[in-house]
Amino acid sequence: MTVTIVGSQLGDEGKGGVVDVYGDPADVVARYQGGDNAGHTVVHDGEEYKLSLVPSGAVRGKVGILGNGCVVNLRTLFDELNTLREKGLDPDVRIAERAHAILPFHRVLDGIEEDVKSESDQEVGTTGRGIGPTYEDKAGRRGVRIGDLLDPDVLRERLEYVVPQKRALVEEVYDIDVDDLDDPDAFDVDALYEEFREFGERLEEENMTVNAGAFLSDAIADGQNVMFEGAQGTLIDIDHGNYPYVTSSNPTAGGAATGTGLGPGVVGDGEIIGIVKAYLTRVGSGPLPTELGGVVGDTPGYDEETEGRNEDLATYIRDEGGEYGTVTGRPRRVGWLDLPMLRHATRANGFTGLAVNHIDVLAGLDEVQVGYTYELDGEEVRTIPSTTEEWGRCEANLRSFEGWPEVDWSEVADEGYDAIPENARTYLEFISDELDVPIYAVGVGPGREETVVVENPYE
Ligand code: IMP
Repeated sequence: MTVTIVGSQLGDEGKGGVVDVYGDPADVVARYQGGDNAGHTVVHDGEEYKLSLVPSGAVRGKVGILGNGCVVNLRTLFDELNTLREKGLDPDVRIAERAHAILPFHRVLDGIEEDVKSESDQEVGTTGRGIGPTYEDKAGRRGVRIGDLLDPDVLRERLEYVVPQKRALVEEVYDIDVDDLDDPDAFDVDALYEEFREFGERLEEENMTVNAGAFLSDAIADGQNVMFEGAQGTLIDIDHGNYPYVTSSNPTAGGAATGTGLGPGVVGDGEIIGIVKAYLTRVGSGPLPTELGGVVGDTPGYDEETEGRNEDLATYIRDEGGEYGTVTGRPRRVGWLDLPMLRHATRANGFTGLAVNHIDVLAGLDEVQVGYTYELDGEEVRTIPSTTEEWGRCEANLRSFEGWPEVDWSEVADEGYDAIPENARTYLEFISDELDVPIYAVGVGPGREETVVVENPYE
């Protein structure tokens, strides 16, 4: 049986915690898209692990797969594996031979393009990990796949084709001398060949590469439980997100099929769980109709003098929820829950269950609001419009809910759903009714044990 975990909003919904809680009965945890732009913290036996590539289940003794839809930075992967091994773990991670390798020049190009875009305020606010440029090369049929690293002749041939193009792009389009860059070797065929051939040898020695689709379908045929772990979220999906402020892959549930090599029926036969944060956060630019307050440089058109925004509330929620970038410390933009966004995500993913996180963060507020519909050019709309420009013109029609008190959330987690304060349950049931999807779990604190499990998808 399969369970797919998908972010329903803009990433950072707390997917890692749900993967952790529901992952216990899973034998295999597979990622199907993205790369080291994700970030999750796993606490295991009292030890904290910060991972961006290794699927969190691998820390708990599951087989971790990086599917063909992933882009893999082997420097990051081996760093993470080395760290885990130093701490006495022996994670079993396999990489699809069809996955693409992030090469050092992809990172450099990610940075250059963001700089150029920022001159006209068009930057996406990427994580700078080379994700977009790697997927570009994949679609452009000039990428280097993990399987190519295993064959010295193929690797050299691929590099000899692609590297001169990238060098020319930097020098002739962006007018930057490659030798002035921090990492000029990123554009040197021989240096790249040497480093990546070594990675290829290590992958081979450690028997780490697989035909992911075949591996996973055998596991399913064997009666094993498989979890597909989505990274990022629906609204930063390249197709269903707010283009161009998106990542370059498909975090939505369809990606679990194309990004692993299994049929959509296999994914659809299982459960698809939408992870919802009880409010909204956003990293980087783009519209956010329910935004409270604003973040200079990220909120479009925002400056600190702007009136009518609810700064104190935004700061309160940001601080209570620790809504600062894990790596950069950058404050995340904060808003109320947005139902048009969740209606869009429910349709695009076909959720069979919801896990709503962080209801504890909103505790103690007198009133909690929800963006119920939008007003767009004089019309009421119930879902996200297709263009980002239209979305940017949407104003949220808010609905109000009575707040719920601060309580002992660990006790609530022990006692179960009925111990959740009544007003919070009213809020949860409203979301579930509006989306016509049952609540499977409620996050009431940051720890794995601070989750109220209503439904276990593998049972
Ligand atoms: P990229 O994935 O680095 O190309 O970044 C593209 C967009 O996706 C940017 O707005 C990033 O902030 C956003 N993004 C990428 N990964 C994550 C994530 O794990 N959580 C939240 N936002 C993300």
